[in-house]
Amino acid sequence: MSEIFDVAIIGAGPGGYVAAIRCAQLGLNTVCIDDWKNPKGRPSLGGTCLNVGCIPSKALLESSENFYRAVHKFSAHGIKSEGTSIDVPVMISRKDKIVTTFTAGISALFKKNKVTSLHGSGTLLQQDENTQAWQISVSDKDKTEVISARHVILATGSTPRQLPIAAIDNHLILDNAGALALTEIPKRLGVIGAGVIGLEMGSVWRRLGSEVTILEAMPGFLMAADEQVAKEAQKIFSKEPGLKIQTGIEIKSIVTTKKTVKVEYCDANDVTHTLEVDKLIVAVGRAPNTKDLGVEKNGLKLDDRGFVDVNAFCCTNLHNVYAVGDVVRGPMLAHKASEEGVAVAEMIMAKEQGHKNEFEGINFNTVPWVIYTSPEIAWIGKTEQELKKTGIAYKVGQFPFIANGRARAIGEASGFIKVLADAENDRVLGVHMIGPYVSELISEAVMAMEFAACSQDIASIIHAHPSLSEVLHEAALGVDNRALHI
Ligand code: FAD
Ligand code: NAI
Repeated sequence: MSEIFDVAIIGAGPGGYVAAIRCAQLGLNTVCIDDWKNPKGRPSLGGTCLNVGCIPSKALLESSENFYRAVHKFSAHGIKSEGTSIDVPVMISRKDKIVTTFTAGISALFKKNKVTSLHGSGTLLQQDENTQAWQISVSDKDKTEVISARHVILATGSTPRQLPIAAIDNHLILDNAGALALTEIPKRLGVIGAGVIGLEMGSVWRRLGSEVTILEAMPGFLMAADEQVAKEAQKIFSKEPGLKIQTGIEIKSIVTTKKTVKVEYCDANDVTHTLEVDKLIVAVGRAPNTKDLGVEKNGLKLDDRGFVDVNAFCCTNLHNVYAVGDVVRGPMLAHKASEEGVAVAEMIMAKEQGHKNEFEGINFNTVPWVIYTSPEIAWIGKTEQELKKTGIAYKVGQFPFIANGRARAIGEASGFIKVLADAENDRVLGVHMIGPYVSELISEAVMAMEFAACSQDIASIIHAHPSLSEVLHEAALGVDNRALHI
């Protein structure tokens, strides 16, 4: 291709494809290069999130939760559901259909917005001395072409971290892709890592009947969450039949037999145990994808953890080269990747037009976290332990779902919402939730914090009755000891 694109984006996950659409909307001639292939060997846009992450995991969580409700909860409503069974291949093909619809949807969005889409592995070469444009090689099978672009956005995402003693075969030892593609319910399922993937994938297969054991190296459970929420989650999860979570363990060996996996580990008291399971999911974090970026030759700087080194504005050390999403510092979340993608697109446009850059950098304090377990967990801002550590004086308002009419009507009334507000000026500093549909309720807290609201701003807003959102209302009222229904 002899044309020089305004922007080339490497990676079409939620960081890259969203950046591509926004660049094109702004009138920039944009190309997006992506190497993802689906199990049928066909190019599939959307990256980890759409293919083997956010979307398929939520599809399976929904199916498994429906099954669990039918078997264990419908009888309380007077609904008889004896003989309920689950057809796992149908559940998986439903999930696959959702994935295909969305990945094809991105191709359609690219066409509509006139984004040029190239399939292959992209490598950043060098800047042309005359045109100052970056050259990028795009390789697919034995075909390589070189394209040119004046600006480059690296959005190559991440891949699962592997344990050196447990090679992923996606037959017995599974990563997230394997865990989302099982066509039979494993009788015994082991999970290494009680992080977000371990808890969500463990939930899917436990609800369908697996006996799940989750082994976690850290001494505590969900240590990034607010301590009280983590404690409540542990209390609820430990009552779930078929779920065992052990923290403070150290994996010693992992050996596969023909049909099982044997995990030898030491517990916190140094006692050795052997766990034999039919499948083992390894979910011990993710590593940035930088191996094909051409770092050795182009001088792109990586940080000491191997992520592409960027400043607050997603600029790398190379002129007109930016990086967004999982491949750079910050939480590995789809919405954070997309937000950075859009911000960089706007920044490039501002540069092209000679305007001042308005992007102030992502405020990581207002990036919401959600864990789609049952009950769900969600939070934003500072935890109590962080506030104590920094010595900020704060007030607390807390309200349980059990005192909320809608939660009782739904039949999902465990958990609570807690609002933390500055003791001096009442500004909301953090909101922590465990309970039904808190993945949806957290957005009100995000809005409040983005608008620098006080807890009494939330308290003075009318919330529909009966609704789950009243729990946040009551928690905010509680900051000033004004909660009404407790
Ligand atoms: P990715 O989505 O990883 O996309 C990068 C793309 O670049 C991929 O297609 C990759 O193949 C391609 N690529 C890499 N190198 C090259 C190259 N050299 N040339 C061409 N293409 C290349 N986040 C949430 O916010 N909510 C959730 O519910 C959630 N659930 C998740 C569930 C699971 C099981 C997993 C694994 C992750 C989940 N995440 C979730 C995290 C989310 O998927 C990531 O944060 C998000 O996908 C990161 O987006 P990205 O664009 O940076 O990278
Ligand atoms: P994670 O970082 O959330 O959890 C990994 C866990 O494995 C940690 O608790 C860690 O202490 C533990 N661990 C590491 N090495 C271990 C070892 N040798 N033995 C036992 N335990 C060990 O990473 P995870 O679950 O792989 O997910 C990766 C990322 O994907 C998450 O950080 C998150 O950003 C994203 N994600 C987001 C979701 C959401 O938003 N709902 C859902 C799933 C993933």
